[in-house]
Amino acid sequence: MSNLLRLVYVSRPTRPVDEAFMEELLSQARTSNQLLGITGVLCSGRGYFVQVLEGQEGTLLTLYARILADTRHEQASLLSIGLAAKRAFSQWSMAYIDGEALSPEIHTRLVSKALVDSDMSEQARLLQTALTTLRRAA
Ligand SMILES: Cc1cc2nc3c(=O)[nH]c(=O)nc-3n(C[C@H](O)[C@H](O)[C@H](O)COP(=O)(O)O)c2cc1C
Repeated sequence: MSNLLRLVYVSRPTRPVDEAFMEELLSQARTSNQLLGITGVLCSGRGYFVQVLEGQEGTLLTLYARILADTRHEQASLLSIGLAAKRAFSQWSMAYIDGEALSPEIHTRLVSKALVDSDMSEQARLLQTALTTLRRAA
């Protein structure tokens, strides 16, 4: 069995992000991710995308290369990549977090370079917490 990898990147959308844009992007991503065994979360808002992707090494890196070539965003910067003991977003083929709903402080930490700790980057941890909070609120 190959390795489970998790990566986090940040990028800037090249066009205005409205509801229709996100719906199309997420529905396509979720269908494809289910087939590929990819899980994660995408946060969009305040002029940035922050995405956590997790999956088997080869599949994940191939997908990441495809995402980097997507003209709907630019200036992608890899914030962290590493082996993961287990999936942090196992229940989500691609969860969504509205970046506008996060506090400005948390959003700033999300889009900045963060130190990678033993298993999960600060960004992945912050987004996992945000998801849990939003689910409780829902
Ligand atoms: C911010 C962003 C996140 C994306 N996330 C995913 C994803 O998680 N899974 C996926 O299959 N495609 C995702 N895509 C779409 C891919 O970039 C690409 O359009 C899709 O995989 C189809 O690739 P193809 O046109 O080379 O077949 C994302 C695109 C953007 C702009």
